[in-house]
Amino acid sequence: MSQANQAGGRPVISATGLFTPPEAISNEELVASFNEFVRRHNDAHAAAIAAGEAAALAESSVDFIEKASGIRSRHVMAKAPVLDPEIMAPRWPQRSNDELSIMAEIGVAAAREALARAGRDAGDVDAVLCAASNMERAYPAMGIEIQQALGIDGFAFDMNVACSSATFGIQTAADYICAGNARSVLVVSPEITSGHLNWRDRDSHFIFGDVATAVLVEDASMAPPDHWVILGTRLKTVFSNNIRNNFGFLNRAYPDEAGGADKLFVQEGRKVFKEVVPMVAQMIVDEAERLGIDPAGLRRLWLHQANAGMNRLIAHKVLGHEASDDESPTVLDTYGNTSSAGSIIAFHLHHDDLAPGDIGLICSFGAGYSAGTVFVRKAG
Ligand code: COA
Repeated sequence: MSQANQAGGRPVISATGLFTPPEAISNEELVASFNEFVRRHNDAHAAAIAAGEAAALAESSVDFIEKASGIRSRHVMAKAPVLDPEIMAPRWPQRSNDELSIMAEIGVAAAREALARAGRDAGDVDAVLCAASNMERAYPAMGIEIQQALGIDGFAFDMNVACSSATFGIQTAADYICAGNARSVLVVSPEITSGHLNWRDRDSHFIFGDVATAVLVEDASMAPPDHWVILGTRLKTVFSNNIRNNFGFLNRAYPDEAGGADKLFVQEGRKVFKEVVPMVAQMIVDEAERLGIDPAGLRRLWLHQANAGMNRLIAHKVLGHEASDDESPTVLDTYGNTSSAGSIIAFHLHHDDLAPGDIGLICSFGAGYSAGTVFVRKAG
């Protein structure tokens, strides 16, 4: 291990990694299952609905989902139970304390890819930040389990800033490197969002998907030649109840019990759209100005992947014109919203073609509200 380089360093992104669950659910499969649930629910409550004592549930539609969100499919860790109208939640066998936890397992897979791409030995890594919007348990930290599974001799912890967890993690890692407290830090974002999504809620049942990403943030002096220089990071939070999940150990009702619906993801989607777009666009432009970067000259925006319309508007405000797929690539269509992992997946899949000197932006936004910008320049 190389921890505690008191001289301080210059943070770069050495490599990224991605784990994609093999199973995926198309909109057609999702809507067929949801509508079967609606039919069964309405049949079971037919008398109350006819008497005006209960409202009938409305069906979902593939057309609406694609038009409102840009999502066509999403990967999940457990397809069958999510699609089963009697369950509509992920399920897998409970693992013993001696087995690797499911979040740690997919985080380790993404981390191993990042390490391999960087040509990095886990023994050279100083710290692991598990940065994600939901943790599988209270403690011990998921990060420490990932650290141990990778054989890293250093420190680890968990951090949760919802959809902005990864960018907040990158800034934290970069700060450690600047301060000389670490030289190599893994920011791992295992996002099993299928567990916090209410698959019975028509307004949001289509939004999320499961994935894990990893970002290896290192001191430039040890990074591989084709790294990305971190030009600057900026974080912002503004409290809002418009995206909320009340699940927690002080809340007694569980999601499938009466009164438990708010222990899953809930949002006021329209308000989120209206409030977050201007906040994030302004933040990007301000931060570009602080760094002396012309926003219109940004080669690529790797934006948070929540909604295609939001990304279109933000990219337009930043670039000053309608962004092409090349300027603002989407992974929403195949991954859905993967919370904090979204902008990292976009970066991971769409950066190889950029030239040395090109400048781009990794940007997250979501619950909190929270937003993070990471401006990067391809080295060389
Ligand atoms: N199938 C068919 N119709 C649906 C539907 C579904 N699954 N869900 C909602 N509708 C209907 C509504 O009933 C409403 O009908 P009405 O006009 O007759 O009342 C209409 O579609 C519009 O609903 P609304 O919820 O206002 O949709 P929207 O256009 O705002 O799109 C979101 C919904 C969630 C996709 C959009 O608001 C969004 O993406 N917001 C930001 C989300 C976000 O980034 N969240 C962060 C999470 S990290």
